[in-house]
Amino acid sequence: MPKLTGIKKINIAVFISGNGSNFKSLIINSLKKKSKYEVKLVISNKTSAKGLKYARKFKIKKKIINYLNKKDAEKTILVELKKNKIDLVCLAGFMKILSNNLIKKLKCQIVNIHPSLLPKYKGLNTHQRALNNKEKYSGCTVHYVSSKLDSGKIILQKKVKILKNDTCDRLTKRVLRQEHLLYPRALNKILFNL
Ligand code: GAR
Repeated sequence: MPKLTGIKKINIAVFISGNGSNFKSLIINSLKKKSKYEVKLVISNKTSAKGLKYARKFKIKKKIINYLNKKDAEKTILVELKKNKIDLVCLAGFMKILSNNLIKKLKCQIVNIHPSLLPKYKGLNTHQRALNNKEKYSGCTVHYVSSKLDSGKIILQKKVKILKNDTCDRLTKRVLRQEHLLYPRALNKILFNL
C-alpha cells in the first residue's frame, strides 16, 4: 500500500451502481477548501445508474464497466485506475464484489461504506434483518476492503436508533443521511490521521 501522507491531493475513484447519493456527498466535500482529495473518476457497472448525473453536473470523468465477463471487467478497472493515477478507491453502493485477484493487484487502498454496524449484518437487506431481529440500533460503517466480504478493518461507524414502528424505508433514509456525513469523515480520518 502506498503511504497517503505527504501527497498534496489524493485522487479518488468512486464506484457506484445506483443512486450515487454517497458519491454526491464525497464530491461536495472534496470541493471544500481544506479537502485532501479530489474525485477524479466514477466507475459504474450500470449505464442506468442514476448517480451518473453527478458526474455530468460536476464534470467528473466517468467509465461504465461491462460486467458480462468479470475478468475483462476487472482488467478494464485496473487500466482505468492506473490511467487516472488513482490513489484511493471508494466503493459507494457498488453492487459487485471485487475479486481477491483485483484487490491484490490494486496498488491503492480500497474503502467501502456498508449500511450496518459491522460485523453485524454483512451482505444485503441489512436494515430489514435488523428490524426483524428487533435490534435497538442499526447504522453504517466505513471500512477497508479485504478479501472477505464486509470484513476489513473498520475506520468509522455511526449508530442510528431504531424507532418504534420503524419501517425499512424510513430507517434506510435515516441511515443514508448519516452515511453522507460518515464517509467524508472517514476519508479525513485516513488522510489527515485525525
Ligand atoms: C448505501 O446505503 C450503501 O451503504 C449501500 O448501498 C447504498 C447506496 O446508496 N451499500 C451496500 O449495500 C454495499 N453492500 P447511494 O447509491 O445513494 O450512495
